[in-house]
Amino acid sequence: MAVSPDFLEELRARIPLAGLIGTRVPLQRSGRNWRGCCPFHAEKTPSFYVYDDHYHCFGCGAHGDAVSFLMQTQNLAFMEAVTELARQAGLAVPKPAPEAEAAERRRLALSEVLARAEAAFTRRLFLPEGAQALAYLKERGITEETIRRFGLGYAPRRGALVAELAREGVGLEEMAQAGLLRQSEDGSPAGEFFLERVMFPIRDRRGRVIGFGGRVLGTGQPKYLNGPETPIFSKRRALYGFDLAREEVRQGAKLVVVEGYMDVIALHQAGFKGAVAPLGTALSAEQLELLWRLSPVPVLCFDGDRAGAGAALRALETALPLLTPSRSLRIAALPEGEDPDSFVRKKGAGAFQLVLDGAEALVDALYRLLRAQAPQSTPEQRAAFRAKLEETAARIRDRGLAKEYRRALLARYFEEQRRPIRPAPPLPKAATPTPENALAERQRILAAVLLHHPSLLPDVEEAWLSLDLPPWLAALRKAVLAWSATAETLDSDALITHLRASGMANLEAQVRAATPFPLPKFAGPDAERTEAQAGWWHIFGLLHRARLDAEVAVAQRDFAAEPDLRRQQRLLALVEARARLARGEPDGIGAAV
Ligand code: UTP
Ligand code: MN
Repeated sequence: MAVSPDFLEELRARIPLAGLIGTRVPLQRSGRNWRGCCPFHAEKTPSFYVYDDHYHCFGCGAHGDAVSFLMQTQNLAFMEAVTELARQAGLAVPKPAPEAEAAERRRLALSEVLARAEAAFTRRLFLPEGAQALAYLKERGITEETIRRFGLGYAPRRGALVAELAREGVGLEEMAQAGLLRQSEDGSPAGEFFLERVMFPIRDRRGRVIGFGGRVLGTGQPKYLNGPETPIFSKRRALYGFDLAREEVRQGAKLVVVEGYMDVIALHQAGFKGAVAPLGTALSAEQLELLWRLSPVPVLCFDGDRAGAGAALRALETALPLLTPSRSLRIAALPEGEDPDSFVRKKGAGAFQLVLDGAEALVDALYRLLRAQAPQSTPEQRAAFRAKLEETAARIRDRGLAKEYRRALLARYFEEQRRPIRPAPPLPKAATPTPENALAERQRILAAVLLHHPSLLPDVEEAWLSLDLPPWLAALRKAVLAWSATAETLDSDALITHLRASGMANLEAQVRAATPFPLPKFAGPDAERTEAQAGWWHIFGLLHRARLDAEVAVAQRDFAAEPDLRRQQRLLALVEARARLARGEPDGIGAAV
């Protein structure tokens, strides 16, 4: 190619495609785009669409840009079409500088070296030396057809690739420039970069090899090696699988971005042929641009773990400034511990389709991921979170969209702040308390006291932990204690807000509900702290009498050693609880006890 990509970009920017095509084909507006009858096949109803930078016919599949339109409709050669477009744009076609021509020749030479390396790797995968690698791929469920489609291969033992390429006349320098050799300390070419690994050729969008990734067989480290950056390989600019996905997405496949090479391959094999992945680095702005050329709303489907959530948030933050009303993302969530490869193999294509269909809108994912990092138990934390939301929206360069995001994110924030208490699902109502439901009820009352008076937590924490609780109350206890360990003030409203925001709204409501029995007054929100404290120990004593006696003894010693108000209150509450037990006082459950 004798024209620089920059000049072609310039031409495309200067010549609106709809204008160019419109001189030959009558076009009508269709949303943001244009539509008409296809000039490349006979049709009566229009299925030929013209977008900003390309055209596509859904009838015959004709597809291209301004240059290819002229080539096809006027029978011009590539350079003739470029020259014609330049004339229309009032630009002169730049003469390629000698250095540019030399660089282009070097790039071609590197492509040639890489193509030879690829051939060597694929051939060796099917030789005895590659048997283990081939078995590894098959064990992972990859068929031979898929292996060939992706050009997977095997990098042989030390020395073999260099010898093979040298026999074909490739020099060491060239191999090094193509990223196939390591550099020794003085910069001279050393041994092969990839040894005894499964090889994944990485291609540009036209399908030419530009570099490799290599996976260790089994469990060694590092698991994946990616070749070095070279004049033709930039990790920021390429996407694994993009060459294959490009065609498929044009024919209607969904564009899905995953994290790993194996994810791309497994999805492709399962029929999700629009899968691509970045090359072991975070999704870059350049890669997003590439994606948006294919689809206005690609789906990100990262691993179902913390790293995956982190990668998703990072990708969204990179995308923010670039978003427009017609360029967005969706986020599909996998269950904890699964990646797209493991998920589709275990659960099948139907299940993965559901995951894609359920993908969250960008604004929802953004809120959820930011929220997960922002505790909300104090006014300061809530204010900081609100500021973060506003700042996030402001990073969108498209003014109108930024406004909408600001509004939408804040709406979610306020909704969460004042979400009404959802009534607990009513439990079966017992006619009379039995020993079983009295036990459950006492356990519930203890939790209710603490939700309304979390300032008691430091006093009762150990005793509460000594109880064997049913799973739902144990989960709630765990969340409450985790909160109290970091909360700045032990305040009931803050605790309840925190529980609701952590997905425990139901548990929280069930603890505080008036079913199956109305809560005794000391367990409600209006009780005095001292009343709540004595009531708590009383109920606790009903569940664990021996432990109560032990607590009384400790509290007496503590108070004697260092008499202060808090210790005094605690001791009084404990003594009162023990006295009530001694008198056989009821536990306050319903009227019947
Ligand atoms: P993963 O570890 O999620 O990859 O890393 P994976 O595809 O699920 O791996 P296996 O084969 O199923 O175990 C995701 C991507 O991160 C890069 C690679 O590009 C990989 O595909 N990576 C990972 C590295 O570059 N180096 C590593 O050591 C690990
Ligand atoms: Mn995996």
